[in-house]
Amino acid sequence: MSEVSSVVRIFDTTLRDGEQAARVNLNTGEKVQIARALERLKVDVIEAGFPIASKGDFEAVSSVAAEVRGPIIAGLARTTEKDIARAGEALSGAARARIHTFIATSPIHMEHKLKKTPAEVLKEVERGVSFARSIVSDVEFSAEDASRSDIDFLVEVFTLAIESGAGTINIPDTVGYAMANEFEEFCRTIIKRVNKPDVIWSVHCHNDLGLGVANSLAAVRAGARQVECTINGLGERAGNASMEEIVMGLRTRRDHFGVDTNIDARRFFKTSKLVSTLTGVPVQPNKAIVGTNAFAHEAGIHQHGMLCNRATYEIMTPESVGTPGTELHLGKHSGRHAFNARIETFGYNLTNEQGEAAFEYFKELCDKKKDVSDGDIEALLLDRVLQLTPEKRYTLKDYAVTVGSGGKPTASITLLHDGNEITEAAVGNGPVDASYKAIAKILPFSPELVEFRIGATSESPDALGEAHIILRCREGETDIKAQGRGTSTDIIEATIRAYIKAVNRLYSVAAAREVTL
Ligand code: KIV
Ligand code: ZN
Repeated sequence: MSEVSSVVRIFDTTLRDGEQAARVNLNTGEKVQIARALERLKVDVIEAGFPIASKGDFEAVSSVAAEVRGPIIAGLARTTEKDIARAGEALSGAARARIHTFIATSPIHMEHKLKKTPAEVLKEVERGVSFARSIVSDVEFSAEDASRSDIDFLVEVFTLAIESGAGTINIPDTVGYAMANEFEEFCRTIIKRVNKPDVIWSVHCHNDLGLGVANSLAAVRAGARQVECTINGLGERAGNASMEEIVMGLRTRRDHFGVDTNIDARRFFKTSKLVSTLTGVPVQPNKAIVGTNAFAHEAGIHQHGMLCNRATYEIMTPESVGTPGTELHLGKHSGRHAFNARIETFGYNLTNEQGEAAFEYFKELCDKKKDVSDGDIEALLLDRVLQLTPEKRYTLKDYAVTVGSGGKPTASITLLHDGNEITEAAVGNGPVDASYKAIAKILPFSPELVEFRIGATSESPDALGEAHIILRCREGETDIKAQGRGTSTDIIEATIRAYIKAVNRLYSVAAAREVTL
């Protein structure tokens, strides 16, 4: 047996499988910001999207390919010529491009979804992989629903894919069905029977039974040297295997696995926060590695142990995954240097003008509150400085909201649209309801509010108010959803900003899907 590498490649699919999660839709600007954060994290491969899926996906893959130079940039494609050609086109600007082509191999998928015989699937594999190889030198092949496929057939499929030019072969547990010990054995048997020492074996595990990470780690024991995963475990249904858990599992138990990754784990907390903020999907407090409670010790016995020696209750340090410890807050005496140094740690890429604008907003914020936390600064960058919503159809000019025990809450809202000021007023059963009714009167369509959350940017008593909402637009054939986030020292203003952001995003989602609102 040839020597197996001790490095496990991390293939991040947050921007593809992660973005397929219900209610998540990221625009190109946001995908590029996440891709840059992944580059800083030192992932080996970024799967930037599924270029044939929509104009927006194509654009996002092209932009990531053109702007992010470190990792390999992958685009997903079925085995059809149209899909593969489109992926090749989207990746043409990449320094290192990979086409990731796939077809299902399980009896249930072949019969009911593809309506193809195993022989026809084999033909597709050969044609698809060869065609992809005629476009790029780096081709990955995946057998969708591999864990429910016949192992003899899989060996035949994989052998053919390798002979047709695939350098990476992926064994997905598409529906999260596998059990760790059987998946380990399954992968080991396939790797042994296919017996192609130069191929990189990969796994891609979903989390339907909560076993995505366990199955990925089991496959590493069997010889997999690429793991496909996402930040925060974001993904279809119950999600994909979480990158931070896999990487820290391998690192913390190097004695057990004997392998490591190239990942700079100190960037996990910030990257997790960025993905959560941009997708609007919160991280549960007890989430391993990046949850806010992941290193919190409450019980007296635990606290006593920690004071004696941290290793009594901590198997890794919070610093090793970038958990903010005693975070120093900035304030009005903080200079430009300290401010720039702080935003540098977030991983966003700012132009000089954006840097200037950020500092101006920061100073304005310092006049309103004494301590400015990392959460506040990040909110300010996202909401005021980084123009991540490509086109601002509507912007907030003014608002006035009246509430009290005497009468019905009323709101008057002025928005700017195409250079014109439009003002509408409404009453509602609360200040937010009144504001949203007033905005809805201005719009040419009636969005439906499907999710509403308010919170704060940090735990400090004078944190900024933060609102997250999801709007849905159902007009004729169109049924789209979009999220919006707003922050302000005034929580009502935060909710209004979130609503307007979601409206603007509805327009950009509609444009990416080539529908009009
Ligand atoms: O879950 C899956 O099988 C996939 C493939 C496209 C790799 O996402
Ligand atoms: Zn998947």
